[in-house]
Amino acid sequence: MENGFLILESFSVLYHYFCVMSVKQPIGIFDSGYGGLTVMKEILKKLPQYDYLYLGDNARAPYGNRSFDTVYQYTLECVKWFFKNHCHLVILACNTASAKALRTIQQKDLEMLAPEKRVLGVIRPTSEMIGSFTQTKQVGVLATNGTVQSDSYVIEIEKKYPDIVVHQEACPMWVPLIENNEHTGPGADYFVKKHIDSLLSKSGDIDTVLLACTHYPLLTNTIRKFLPSDIQLLSQGEIVADSLADYLQRHPEMEKKCTKNAEYAFCTTDSAIDFDNHARIFFGESVRSAHVIIAP
Ligand code: DGL
Repeated sequence: MENGFLILESFSVLYHYFCVMSVKQPIGIFDSGYGGLTVMKEILKKLPQYDYLYLGDNARAPYGNRSFDTVYQYTLECVKWFFKNHCHLVILACNTASAKALRTIQQKDLEMLAPEKRVLGVIRPTSEMIGSFTQTKQVGVLATNGTVQSDSYVIEIEKKYPDIVVHQEACPMWVPLIENNEHTGPGADYFVKKHIDSLLSKSGDIDTVLLACTHYPLLTNTIRKFLPSDIQLLSQGEIVADSLADYLQRHPEMEKKCTKNAEYAFCTTDSAIDFDNHARIFFGESVRSAHVIIAP
């Protein structure tokens, strides 16, 4: 009986989305799991008037330790899903997907799939802003294995600020700790201290540390315990929100396609109940999601 009720509940969320919202053209926001909600929260503060469709690929998260090919394939499947659901503009609010899949999707797949649609990432806008934060020109980047291995931040920051030195530190345990709700426990203290110490051992002049994974803002309090107070800690949410506002202003043809009813829908490839229980800590308020299946 309870299961029957849950199926009906999920069906009604989907029905609402696909029927009532079917004429809408929301902005798509994608993450491997919950992390993109930290970005969406900031986007909604700045641009609440648009419709948004969030997708967390929770069934296949985390992406951080997966190969280039796998992250590319999963991300492409999700981008196609957004396109089928009337999104003309999709933001990969996931550094790992931005690092490993975005360029190929932009340069190869879009032309075949939907040349008039756009997929944007979070690495370029963040890299373009970094110069306004650092004085010492020594920046620390905390990210997943995948993002660090791709060297995307080193490459993007060097394009705009050749005098900035980027020190990277991969933190492979941080996303699993956060996804398993252990980010305030003693296990988190251990792994956060380990990586902060390692990052700071690379240079004594780092004055700015970037949280280059959209999950990491949840570890801010723990990171602050181990990071000297004169080093500033940057999260990406506001930077990405500003960059989206700027993009929409510079591309009126795209802006017109994005509908404005302030309706926000949330989908997950795993359990909607788990998503709703977990999402609040990332998003700041409760959400009701629908379970969806992504076609390969
Ligand atoms: N939130 C994603 C990012 O920004 C990574 C999480 C994962 O490992 O799946 O990199």
